[in-house]
Amino acid sequence: MRNLYQGWRILVAILLLGLSLPHSQAYLKNEKNIKSAVFLSPKFVLGPGSVENKYYFGIDFPRGHIALKSFDAEVVDEAGNPIPLHETYLHHWVIMRYYARKDSEVSAYDGNRVVRESDFIPVRNDGVCHNIGQYFGLGSETRGTETHIPDPYGIEIGNPDEIPAGYEEGWMLNVHAIDTRGVEDRLGCTECKCDLYNVTVDEYGNPLRPDYKGGLRCCYDHTQCRVKDGFEGVRRSLYLKYTVRWVDWDTSVVPVKILILDVTDTEKRLSNSTGLSIEHHCLVEYEVEPCKATSMADDACSHTRWTSVTMPTDGYIIYGVAHQHSGGTGLTLYKEDGEVICTSIPAYGNGTEAGNEAGYIVGMSTCYPQPGSIKLTAGETLIVESNYSSSLHHTGVMGLFYFMVADRVPQPYSFFHVLSNNYKHMNLSAYAWAAVILLGAVVALRYHRRNKNGDGYQPIMV
Ligand SMILES: *[C@@H]1O[C@H](CO)[C@@H](O)[C@H](O)[C@H]1NC(C)=O
Ligand SMILES: *[C@@H]1O[C@H](CO)[C@@H](O)[C@H](O)[C@H]1NC(C)=O
Ligand SMILES: *[C@@H]1O[C@H](CO)[C@@H](O)[C@H](O)[C@H]1NC(C)=O
Ligand SMILES: *[C@@H]1O[C@H](CO)[C@@H](O)[C@H](O)[C@H]1NC(C)=O
Repeated sequence: MRNLYQGWRILVAILLLGLSLPHSQAYLKNEKNIKSAVFLSPKFVLGPGSVENKYYFGIDFPRGHIALKSFDAEVVDEAGNPIPLHETYLHHWVIMRYYARKDSEVSAYDGNRVVRESDFIPVRNDGVCHNIGQYFGLGSETRGTETHIPDPYGIEIGNPDEIPAGYEEGWMLNVHAIDTRGVEDRLGCTECKCDLYNVTVDEYGNPLRPDYKGGLRCCYDHTQCRVKDGFEGVRRSLYLKYTVRWVDWDTSVVPVKILILDVTDTEKRLSNSTGLSIEHHCLVEYEVEPCKATSMADDACSHTRWTSVTMPTDGYIIYGVAHQHSGGTGLTLYKEDGEVICTSIPAYGNGTEAGNEAGYIVGMSTCYPQPGSIKLTAGETLIVESNYSSSLHHTGVMGLFYFMVADRVPQPYSFFHVLSNNYKHMNLSAYAWAAVILLGAVVALRYHRRNKNGDGYQPIMV
C-alpha cells in the first residue's frame, strides 16, 4: 500500500512538473487570475510641427493591493486608430507613482508641474538617478517591447500598510509627443535640434549654452518645429492608450524592485566620518558626434559610451531592457569582470504602418534571465555600454537600462505544495481526473512489482 501511495505521488509529481515547467507554479495559479484594463490618457492636441509635453496627475490606474504584471501603451486618435511614429513621434512617456494628501488638489491637477510639496510624496523606483524616478517609461519602441513580468514576480503597489495615514496612492503620466507631419527634417525634429525649433532659451527662460545643439531643452511643451512652406495639416486630438495587467496581491507573489541606470551617470564616491556615500549625476541625454569624413565604411562609424555604476541593492535579475533613440545599435550591462548581464538591441521598422515605421526604433529586445542565475550585490560595480551609429550627428540620444530584481527566487516546488496550490485551478474534467488516477494506479503497481522483485527504487522525497 505504501508503494501504491508513492507511485501516485510520483505520477502527480511528473504531471505537475510537466504542467508547471517552464512557467513555474504561479503560471497555473495566476495566469487565470490576471486582470487587465485599458485606459486613455487625457486628450492632447497636436498640429504639424507642434510639441506637447504634459504631466497628468491622478490618471486612471488599477486600485487596491495588487501586483503589476505589464504595462503597454500607444498613441491613438479619437477613433482609436493607432498613429504611426512618422506622424506623431512619441519621444517618451513615463509613469510615476506618488502619495497625495487626501482632499488635496494633486489629482485634479493637469499640465503644470508645481504641486504643493506637503501634499505630495513621490514614490520613486529603487534606481540611483534622482531625475529618473519612474515606474514605467518608454518611447518610440513602445509597441514592440515586451513588458510582462514572469510569474511569480510582480510590482507590489497599493499596500495599505505602506501608504502614510491621510494620503492615497496616485499615478502621474508624462507624455512627450512631437507632430512631424510636414516638417522639413523629421529626424532633426525628433532629436529636438534647437535651430529647427528656433529656440534660444529653455522652458524657464534661461539662455541655452551656446554649444547646446539639441535635446529636451529645445522641444518643451508648445514649441514648434519648422514645417515645409505651404504645408497644411489639421490639428487633431490624440491620447496615450495604455493597458495594465495585474494580479491581486497574495503571499505567493514575489515583489520586484525597479532600477534604472543611465550611461551618462558620473558617480562620485564621497567618504565622510560615518562611511561612504555615492552621489549620482545623470544627464539622461547626450550627443553623438558624426564620425570623421575620413572613415570610409559607414559601419565603422560607431560611437560607444560607457560608464560604471555602483549597484545600490542586492537582487536576482528578473527582467531587463534598454531605452535608446534612432541611431542606437544596442546597449549592454556587464559585470565588472566583463560578464554580460543583458544586451538589449533595437529593432527598426521597414514599413509605414503603426508599429513598423521605417527608420524608427519600433521595439527593444528584452532579457529574462533564468531567475536565480544572475545575482547582483549591493556595492558591486556594473558597466553600462551604449552604442550608436555615428554616420549622422545625433542630439538628445539616451542610453538607459531599466531592470527589475527580486530578493529571492521561489524555493524548489514541493509536489504537494504545487498540488495544493493549484488543484482548484487545474480545471481537469472528471475524465481527466479518472485518467490521472488510473495512470497513477498503473505506475504505482509497476513500482510495487519492481520493488517486490528487489529492484530497490528510491522514494522521492516530498
Ligand atoms: C525665430 O525667433 C525669433 C525671435 O526669437 C523671431 O524673430 C524669428 O522670426 C523666428 N524665426 C522663425 C523662422 O520663426
Ligand atoms: C555620510 O555618509 C552616509 C552614507 O554612508 C550618509 O548617510 C550621511 O548623510 C553622510 N553624512 C554627511 C554629513 O554627508
Ligand atoms: C558596442 O561597441 C563595443 C565596442 O565597439 C563592442 O565591443 C560591443 O560588442 C558593442 N555592443 C553592442 C550591444 O553592440
Ligand atoms: C521588412 O522586414 C521583414 C522582415 O525582415 C521582411 O519580411 C519584409 O519584406 C520587409 N518589408 C519591406 C517593405 O521591406
